[in-house]
Amino acid sequence: MKKAIKDILEQDNLSRNEIIVLLESEGDDRTLLFKKSAEVKERYIGKKVWFRGLIEFSNICGKDCLYCGIRKGNKNLERYNLTDDEILSAANFAYTNRYGSIALQSGEVESRFVTDRIENLLRGIKELSNGELGVTLSVGEQEPETYKKWYDAGAHRYLLRVESTNPALYSKIHPDDSKHSFKRRLDCLKSLQEIGYQTGTGVMIGLPFQTIDDLAGDLLFMKEFNIDMCGMGPYIEHVSTPLIVHSENLLPLKERFDLTLKMIAIIRIMMKDINIVAATALQAIDPMGREKAVMIGANILMPNITPGKYRDSYKLYDNKPCADDSAEDCQSCLEARVSLADAEVIYGEWGDSKHYSSRQEKSLE
Ligand code: 5AD
Ligand code: FES
Repeated sequence: MKKAIKDILEQDNLSRNEIIVLLESEGDDRTLLFKKSAEVKERYIGKKVWFRGLIEFSNICGKDCLYCGIRKGNKNLERYNLTDDEILSAANFAYTNRYGSIALQSGEVESRFVTDRIENLLRGIKELSNGELGVTLSVGEQEPETYKKWYDAGAHRYLLRVESTNPALYSKIHPDDSKHSFKRRLDCLKSLQEIGYQTGTGVMIGLPFQTIDDLAGDLLFMKEFNIDMCGMGPYIEHVSTPLIVHSENLLPLKERFDLTLKMIAIIRIMMKDINIVAATALQAIDPMGREKAVMIGANILMPNITPGKYRDSYKLYDNKPCADDSAEDCQSCLEARVSLADAEVIYGEWGDSKHYSSRQEKSLE
């Protein structure tokens, strides 16, 4: 006999089949899922939300992921690279506005120049904030020595989405060459974790060829890998990318949105004390998308503090919201949104993943 949702939600360890039942839940069952994930969040995290001021410092990318608007092969895009001064002044904005942390994100470039530049920037950011600003990096696959250098310079969290944990699907959404190897993505995640970063990953939801079974596998992977942070968002097609040819076979946007909320709710239930981002892509589909994610499990928001004139050029997908806003606009808009979600922004704290600290304690026992 099939287990009732209510019984599945009482369990600590979910099987693949149970995850699939939750992902397919509708009506009252879906409501029960969201109620449970909201309770778990309240009990383990509280009604709190932490900011990571997002600086998209360059859209120059050496890779060619088939879904991504800033891929190297997209020639319809003006490339930019913030100056060090612009990056430091955005970090200073975050610091003076008492954001606990910033996140530095860019396209993926592996070079001696980039390694040294980021190392210097990290030291500069620590200096201007008396070591108080937390820094998350999200600059893709790099050599372990590079990750270590940046860790030693003050970065303590790293986000590297795996995008899909099914190798067959991964190879359908990436070019078939050594630059886009699934194995390397996993090796990078492993080395980040070994170096000591709070390690975050995530997937896109509603990709062409993706099945519910793939998504269940993604959640099991995150649990098994013991991630500290999770960032997942709906896949949103971009006209200047090769994957656009598969648009006809996609789930409607609203269903991709709903599946993303379910994925967030389920990972909150499976990994109670991790940090979960309410991804900006949610808002590209539903104006209240990020608030809905906060209500059912997310506890991290990333206000964009990239200088306004560059924002239009960091279009990973079409319809990316907030392209015309300033950093100040993003802050007050998000604050209002958080209070709508019956939560509170915590200023002046890093808001580290509790999962990470308990992982560290366990390894000392
Ligand atoms: N739709 C949604 N998310 C996307 N990303 C890249 N392209 C898209 C898209 N078309 C996400 C990827 C990447 C992150 C920076 O942005 O998951 O890891
Ligand atoms: Fe830049 Fe994928 S296109 S990392």
